[in-house]
Parts: sequence; C-alpha cells; structure tokens
Amino acid sequence: MKHKIGILGFGTVGQGISEILLDKKEYLKKKYGFKFDIVAVADFIFGNVYNPKGLNIPQLLKEAKAGKKFTQDVVDWDNKKIIQKSNTTVWCELTYTDLNTGGPAIDHVKTALKSGKHVITSNKGPAALFYPEMKKLADKNNIKFMIEGTVVAGTPVINLTEGPLAGCEISKIRGILNGTTNYMLTEMEKGMSYEDVLKVAQEKGYAEADPTGDVEGYDARGKVTILANIVMGAGIKIADVACKGITGIKPKDIETAKKQNKRWKLIGSVEKKAGKITASVGPEMIDLGHPLAGVMGAINALTFTTDLLGDVTIVGPGAGKIETGFAILTDLLAIHRNS
Ligand SMILES: NC(=O)c1ccc[n+]([C@@H]2O[C@H](COP(=O)([O-])OP(=O)(O)OC[C@H]3O[C@@H](n4cnc5c(N)ncnc54)[C@H](OP(=O)(O)O)[C@@H]3O)[C@@H](O)[C@H]2O)c1
Repeated sequence: MKHKIGILGFGTVGQGISEILLDKKEYLKKKYGFKFDIVAVADFIFGNVYNPKGLNIPQLLKEAKAGKKFTQDVVDWDNKKIIQKSNTTVWCELTYTDLNTGGPAIDHVKTALKSGKHVITSNKGPAALFYPEMKKLADKNNIKFMIEGTVVAGTPVINLTEGPLAGCEISKIRGILNGTTNYMLTEMEKGMSYEDVLKVAQEKGYAEADPTGDVEGYDARGKVTILANIVMGAGIKIADVACKGITGIKPKDIETAKKQNKRWKLIGSVEKKAGKITASVGPEMIDLGHPLAGVMGAINALTFTTDLLGDVTIVGPGAGKIETGFAILTDLLAIHRNS
C-alpha cells in the first residue's frame, strides 16, 4: 500500500519530516517496503496545496525557506476541506501548541480521525488535553492517533514504554523534560546570572521571546500530563499537576547544592503509590551520582522505575527540526507495520 501523507503546519517540524522523507525515500522503500506520497500541505503562511499523485516537495521546501507562498498545486480549500476531501490516509498535525485550548490543532485532529485518517502529532495540546477522547475516536474508526513527538522529540519514550518495556510495570517516572531550562541551569552553575543566561538562551533559539512556558515549568507540565495518562493510565488533567519553574533559583541556592554534592534540575515526576498516582514539576537538588545529574545543556532524559529491570534511563535530544521530524517518521513506520 502507498501511504498518502498530509502535513498541517509547514514550519520547523513540517519541513523536517519532509526533508527526511525526501532523503530516505529509496531507503525506506527498500528496507521497510514503506511507499508514500506527500499529497497535501496546509500552512497558515505558505498556503494550502494538494496533488493526489504527490506534491513537488523540493519546490515547497525551497519556497518555504525563502519565506514565499507556495506557487504549485495551490487549492482554495480550507483546512477542514483539505483534510476531508483529499485522498490522504494519514495527517501529521504540526501546527503550534496551545496548552489552554488545544486549538487549532484539536479541530484538525478530530476532523481527520472522524474522516477515518490516521493522525500523528508532535503537538502537546491535543495530547495533553484530549488524549483519551482522541484515542477512543481513533480506536472506533480502527485507525491510529500517534504522539511520540510530543515528549522529548524523537528520543523514544512513549514507544519505549509500549514496545521494549511492555510487560514491566512502571511505578515511577522522573525526568528532565525541558531542554531550555536544563541549558539555563547548566550555565547558571558555571556562574552566569538568570537574566544573562536567559538572554543567551533566547539568542541561541532555545528560549522564545516570551520564555514563560519554559521557565515556569508549563511545557514540562504538559509532558508530565501526557506521560501520566499514557504510561500510567492516570486520567489526570494539566491542572492536577503541581508546577513550579526555575525563576526562584538564586546563586546562593546553586552554591548550597554544590556544597552538598548535588545539582539543581527541573524534574517532571509521576509516581504510583498505593494505587494513587501523583504528578508534579519542580526544581530539585539531585545527587551527583544519579544518572539525571550528569545530563547537561539542552538535553533531555527520563528514568523509568520498573518492577523487572529496576531503573532504566534514556537520554537524548528533546527538540530540533530533524530530531522531531524523526519522531513523526517512527510513528509513520509504526502505522505502516500495522497496515
Ligand atoms: N521544533 C521542535 O523542536 C519541536 C519539538 C517537539 C514538539 N514540537 C511541537 O511541534 C509542533 C510544530 O513545531 P514547529 O517548531 O514546527 O512550529 P513552527 O515552526 O512554529 O511551525 C508551525 C507552522 O504551522 C503554521 N500554522 C499555525 N496555525 C496554523 C493553522 N491553523 N493551519 C495551518 N498552519 C498553521 C505556522 O504558521 P504561523 O507561523 O503563521 O503561525 C507555522 O508555519 C508544535 O506544536 C511544537 O510545540 C516542536
């Protein structure tokens, strides 16, 4: 079967997965029998394009990189119509994250699932706010709602717990789920002030102009909610997760940690105790001997406490064009394996 792929949002990740698919087209066909066309792209800035036989992806990438509107295969269909009327079999929802309403992504996800089309997303909004409903809708239509890229990009976390760790009961998850704040804490330990390091993080593109989502812990809280619900079946809402960011950490706190052979990390945590699941985000002083303490810079890591293997820690990138594009690829291949 040939997968007919649609992409909603042709920004960093949308272009990342397009580049990967373009570069690896022959390899994916030869190694996995994975054949595809990207037939639809819908983007707020660049426009909506559709060709049932496959779009000219190098041309779309060239125009997007030049900041120009698409010129080939342009349609005047809105997002709902392009999702419903195109011959797409799978949609990659890669528009911006809104952790308050889930919009506009949640409308795209619902429309696609109701039309019997698989959905893959790296967007935390639909995953953190509406996962149970969307999974139910997908199951009802015998299709998939896949979200590997919503937690630490392509570093396999959700697939790890559902695949290689299946059969282990996970009682605790503790992790560094936000690269920006981990980078900031790393630099603050070297002596930089919070204000200076934030400026550098913004210059490097790690932190946004409004850094609130990262530094107050809200981004990590969205990921903790996803992990609690998917890995532990907690059935919790974002508001149930206690959340504190790194804005209160002062140089004297960093010195205190050093004296105790510890290091500050912003830790997202989910724990099952006596059948009750609690989830939180907050700065913690971690012993230097713990695997999470050695994770420095804009890197992410998670430790799963399991009954059969003890602690299992995975370390890897939590953002980036190709790194997040890879998460979309792994979900595409999972859908292919099932089809
Ligand atoms: N970049 C990463 O490393 C990373 C890592 C993990 C997860 N994610 C998540 O993945 C998603 C995509 O991230 P990104 O970095 O690719 O974002 P991005 O570069 O901002 O791209 C998003 C694209 O979607 C477009 N868009 C916005 N609303 C739309 C709509 N209603 N219909 C069609 N297109 C729309 C945007 O246009 P405008 O610019 O005009 O709004 C933009 O071109 C986000 O939800 C993000 O949180 C990203």
